[in-house]
Amino acid sequence: MRVEDLDEVLEIERASFSMPWSRGAFTYEIERNRVARCWVMREESRVAGYLCLWEVADELHITNVAVHPAYRRRGIAREMLAAVLEDAVRRSLSVVGLEVRPTNEEARALYESFGFRVVGRRRGYYYDTGEDALIMEARLPAAVPARPGREH
Ligand SMILES: CC(C)(COP(=O)(O)OP(=O)(O)OC[C@H]1O[C@@H](n2cnc3c(N)ncnc32)[C@H](O)[C@@H]1OP(=O)(O)O)[C@@H](O)C(=O)NCCC(=O)NCCS
Repeated sequence: MRVEDLDEVLEIERASFSMPWSRGAFTYEIERNRVARCWVMREESRVAGYLCLWEVADELHITNVAVHPAYRRRGIAREMLAAVLEDAVRRSLSVVGLEVRPTNEEARALYESFGFRVVGRRRGYYYDTGEDALIMEARLPAAVPARPGREH
């Protein structure tokens, strides 16, 4: 992800979340935060989705993932997450974590299909609704299945 991508990224972000990240938040992650990395996935040269994470010691924390509403259910999030997890396994990282709203069925199904399990809860984490966050975690490499849908 580059600063030049942010108009497209912010359009997806605002269509995807009730508490969207600001341009400043993405800019900080791209330019300043040394533990952060962000990628975009393109379809026909347009940004179709993106994923951001922090890497600290041997752990990854996924901080943001979204796909443009017009491009959902085509395997884009799956492909981005698979690439991140495969790289994490290759580099012997130990665990990948994230927070998700209990009501976010599509995201939970996505994470569960990669071996993520609910390991805890942060009370009142989402201040717009007061919802708790579920903490999901995948221990590497054991929890991560081969990329679903791929032949071996
Ligand atoms: C969650 C999100 C990133 C999924 O992106 P996507 O590119 O549409 O997902 P994929 O096509 O790669 O789907 C992968 C798997 O996720 C699950 N999934 C995705 N959308 C789903 C839906 N609408 N209902 C149920 N399961 C769904 C399924 O397990 C799916 O596998 P399948 O298609 O083989 O059944 C997308 O819905 C999104 O941007 N949502 C808004 C932002 C958000 O909630 N981000 C996560 C914050 S924790």
